[in-house]
Amino acid sequence: MAALLITDIHTLAGLQPAGQTVLPGKDMARLDQIHNAWILCEDGVISNFGTMDALPTSLPSDLETRSAGGGFVLPSWCDSHSHIVFAAPREEEFAMKIAGKSYEEIAAAGGGILNSAAKLQHAPEELLFESAASRLRDMITQGTGALEIKSGYGLSTDAEIKMLRVIRKLKETFPIPIRASFLAAHAYPQQYKEDHEGYIRMIIDQMLPRVAGEGLADYMDVFCEHGFFSLDDTNRLLDAAGNYGLLPKIHANQLSISGAVQMGIKHHAVSVDHLELTDNDAIQALANSSTIATLLPSCSFYLGIPYANARALMNADVPLALASDYNPGSTPSGNMNFVASLGCIKLKMMPEEVINACTLNGAAAMELSNETGSITVGKRANLILTRPMSSLAYLPYSFGQSQIAATVLNGKYQ
Ligand code: NIG
Ligand code: FE
Repeated sequence: MAALLITDIHTLAGLQPAGQTVLPGKDMARLDQIHNAWILCEDGVISNFGTMDALPTSLPSDLETRSAGGGFVLPSWCDSHSHIVFAAPREEEFAMKIAGKSYEEIAAAGGGILNSAAKLQHAPEELLFESAASRLRDMITQGTGALEIKSGYGLSTDAEIKMLRVIRKLKETFPIPIRASFLAAHAYPQQYKEDHEGYIRMIIDQMLPRVAGEGLADYMDVFCEHGFFSLDDTNRLLDAAGNYGLLPKIHANQLSISGAVQMGIKHHAVSVDHLELTDNDAIQALANSSTIATLLPSCSFYLGIPYANARALMNADVPLALASDYNPGSTPSGNMNFVASLGCIKLKMMPEEVINACTLNGAAAMELSNETGSITVGKRANLILTRPMSSLAYLPYSFGQSQIAATVLNGKYQ
């Protein structure tokens, strides 16, 4: 495989020693950088880096050399929460929202997740793959280099398996690490509205054995929320998933304070996600656990719901990740640059904290931080190259604009 040397980097940011796999809240402001730098990538991984006054003397023979032209180089965004496999967008709900209807009211009126599930039932697998692939190509252009994707618009055994097969094909097709989460417990399907027990049994007895047997999921997800899956439902589902070795990543405290955070922690969740309603009990439980809190500020932005209390979580030393939540209902965008801007502007996180939350801690929320998420020798050479900028803060500061000049995946310019 060819080698790539990038020179004239204004600032190489996001350096971490090997073995630093997650940053707890109080350490998140630490973002090591070197100025006037180069980075060498060989066989798809970062093999060395340093300052321009000390370029390596012996270089691989099949070397491609490129100048960063005074731009910054960062690790690619690690987006640990998305729902990019869906059959159709939901602009019709956009108008309802603008007219004042809440997310819950739209769902109760037949919109929401059930609307997406109805559309996905009959969508051919190939078309689902093509549309998700097109979304993913856009995300990669916007700097994403690792991604988690959920099922959850199937809500029947066949349709959930269809979604997970699409995710598996995305894993096989794209040059970035992808994790799959099984989210059949996203909403009760219409025919089980009055028979919750029937649907829970279907997930436990029919879906989970197939999903686990075919190795289609890395994690179990549940939308634990008033009007969706109760704490007790969640407990049973996570118990059952645990029997197959599937750890949780769950939707918690998005619309109400439910105890979902504590339930996730009880089941050793890799992350609990959303937390728009960040209560003190949840903060304390997280502080005493190794679970990551994943915040999704573009969901708050789009739905007009509260923003999570990032500062209280960081003060309690909880590691935070930021992710897109890209989905047709609550967050029709997968742009991590906008997530980074909202992290600063709305979550009041410092630019360095935001970069760590969107890279190393995002990778940790997918158990990928040994492989990606920082500038570390031996990690995948998945990089963002920016336009010339005067400081790192310019990236989140210039919201709604892209500072990305190029992306590198596995040591190759895309
Ligand atoms: O993370 N809250 C649950 N799931 C998604 C929204 C799904 C939808 O509305 O289609 C979320 O916001
Ligand atoms: Fe979500």
